[in-house]
Amino acid sequence: MKILVIGSGGREHALVWKLRQSPRCSALFCAPGNAGTAALATNIPIPVTDLDGIADFAQREGIGLTVVGPDDALAGGLVDRLEARGLRAFGPTASAARLESSKIFAKEFMVRHGIPTARSGHFTRTAGALEFLEADTYPVVVKADGLALGKGVVIAADRREAEEAVRDMLDGGRFGDAGRRILIEEFLRGPEASIHAMIDGRHVLAFPAAQDHKRAGDGDTGPNTGGMGTFSPAPRAETISDRIRAEILDPFLAGLAADGILFRGMLFPGLMLTDSGPRVLEFNCRFGDPETQVLLPRLRSDLVDLCEAAIDGTLDRVAVEWDSRAAVCVILASDGYPGPYEKGLPIHGLDALAGREDVIVFHAGTALADGRVVTAGGRVLGVTALADTLAEAREKAYAAVKETGFAGARCRSDIASKGIEA
Ligand code: AMP
Ligand code: GLY
Repeated sequence: MKILVIGSGGREHALVWKLRQSPRCSALFCAPGNAGTAALATNIPIPVTDLDGIADFAQREGIGLTVVGPDDALAGGLVDRLEARGLRAFGPTASAARLESSKIFAKEFMVRHGIPTARSGHFTRTAGALEFLEADTYPVVVKADGLALGKGVVIAADRREAEEAVRDMLDGGRFGDAGRRILIEEFLRGPEASIHAMIDGRHVLAFPAAQDHKRAGDGDTGPNTGGMGTFSPAPRAETISDRIRAEILDPFLAGLAADGILFRGMLFPGLMLTDSGPRVLEFNCRFGDPETQVLLPRLRSDLVDLCEAAIDGTLDRVAVEWDSRAAVCVILASDGYPGPYEKGLPIHGLDALAGREDVIVFHAGTALADGRVVTAGGRVLGVTALADTLAEAREKAYAAVKETGFAGARCRSDIASKGIEA
């Protein structure tokens, strides 16, 4: 079967890496891909937002399975576009992906179906929002409704900051259309966790827990990023997996059925583990990046079979096997990230790490220039290591990080510490 992966980050390199191992994969393409995917698949220079371009290519090439990485392609309706041409794709349709692309839609879904989440109100007009703030306690969380590159959430310490965030979004047009509607939400306390579950419309296949590190600096300091590193298993979420199943995943499935939403793809909820139980902060309707870079190396089963079962509604019939080893992924980022940074810097040490079973270097922002691999983005590489324990996996990942890099490469030095302490 010919397979196409959509996207160009570390998540997509991990998808390509895993799909390439399937005996069912006869040819593999990635649009647009990066230097890492180019070594395992044929990169096709079509941007993820060129839905017709992708559908034309998939039809012409006779692609049997398209796996979609990024949220904007899903929210834009790439899966709908492919299905309209009779092509099979893994990922939710645009209407199902609204659970990620509209925080208000997601909130209303959760409230309707008894899924635990923060109390909130939603607003399109400043006056109503300000009135709501009068009665609120602080801190309070102000969220743009739509996709805002992970930047549409403001934790406001007091009334003044909250009002500023509201005015910025509703009057000032910050975040554009994504911020024309806002949510004002109760501030929740506790450790954060996320889970991944594959959904076929009627059944759920929970993946092992993984945990990301969002902030740029050690000890969760500095600005938010796309994610600086992950580890799996994540003991804290693992210990309450029964509650997550009963209080979040099962009601989610029941809610889909009640609302007539056909959801097929990955569900990746962000959770706050509060004293009174898990609460959903958001639904992501895709694989996480860099969560995927620790989950797929632990997956022993064939990902093609899983994706097909999700499309066919037969996930209840698959037996999935996981590697019992722990995985840790450390992101090497460009100097300056998440702010401005230089591109085009040569990356060294990749050959020395190639071919190892227990260390995999996933490319994110990389490109080929005159046959050399150079930096091309903020998050550049994700170095994943597998070992019997989280502590050993971390040690191995950081040892590998020392062997590769580029001028100014940055990483956090405390990835997985939380998991090891727990
Ligand atoms: P979201 O995109 O909704 O997951 O929000 C991004 C980040 O903002 C989360 O990972 C949390 O760290 C924080 N956050 C979001 N909602 C809340 C909340 N209700 N209480 C506390 N922190 C929150
Ligand atoms: N790692 C967080 C995300 O993919 O949204």
